[in-house]
Amino acid sequence: MTDNNERLVYLSGQFVPESQAKISIFDAAVNLGHCVTDSSRTFRHKAFKLKAHIARLYQSLKVARIDAGIDPDEMYRVTEELLERNLQLYDASDDCWIVHNVSAGMSPMGPNPEQSSSATIMIANQPLILTGWQKYYHVGCHAVTPFSRQIPSQSLDARIKNRSRMFHTLAEQEVKLVDPDAQSVILDTDGFVAENKGGNVFIVKDGVVKTPTSVNGLAGITRETTLEICQTQEIPFEETRLLPYDLYTADEVFFTSTPYCLMPATKFNGLPVGDGTVGPIAKQILQGWQELTGVNIVEQADSQI
Ligand SMILES: Cc1ncc(COP(=O)(O)O)c(C=O)c1O
Repeated sequence: MTDNNERLVYLSGQFVPESQAKISIFDAAVNLGHCVTDSSRTFRHKAFKLKAHIARLYQSLKVARIDAGIDPDEMYRVTEELLERNLQLYDASDDCWIVHNVSAGMSPMGPNPEQSSSATIMIANQPLILTGWQKYYHVGCHAVTPFSRQIPSQSLDARIKNRSRMFHTLAEQEVKLVDPDAQSVILDTDGFVAENKGGNVFIVKDGVVKTPTSVNGLAGITRETTLEICQTQEIPFEETRLLPYDLYTADEVFFTSTPYCLMPATKFNGLPVGDGTVGPIAKQILQGWQELTGVNIVEQADSQI
């Protein structure tokens, strides 16, 4: 039984109440981790850059050799319809997280487990809870390098946004051994900064915003928007290689990701970043996010405490 207060999800062609949405234990997402994903969010209940997220999803699908069976326009349409159907359940001041997972479908036991049926398409939206990041807007988090290194793109290109999250999860667990307020700065196997388990890494040095290219990390859409804000605000920026030394000696360090937009880090591997407080460029870019979206993201996070 369902009631009208239950959110719906979209599961392979149908809108289904969350509690009744089930996939097979033989799905390729479960058996093989053969599943691509994308995460987007709303601002004031409107999906932000949804077309760009869906375009990235289809690039991931292509490289992962998964045929979604519907085109990007239809994926966009059902995502918007799902949002529309659930919006009555969100408070006016809340926003939501939108997640797409698309697996290769059923993965039979036997010699050809990768032989797939039609794809399993899973779309959900849920309230965007920012409480885990809220204090970092004010005091910064602790950026820490885990022991685990980024999977080389020769094995799995980080631009394929995928659900094989074992290594990201281990990396995040490793940094939490150092400090519960730690967030990972994952290095690649050559020692260059790659990304965070769910975000991109930025520094500010002498007024210039710097971030790694997407050669060893996901081409984050928040990263792209952050660079657009820099352009609008005439803050110089460059995409470059970064080493831990660059973070130790930076004036500011921050992460970017869809849910929180920008998260300042005020310590790196135990040493203060700059003067150890949230820096002016991070604040300026957060202000840029507000101008772009109409939402003061820090106030939104504070209101949830
Ligand atoms: C590994 C990884 N890097 C970076 C990002 C940031 O991407 P975006 O800005 O598109 O959210 C994410 C987002 O989930 C991610 O999982």
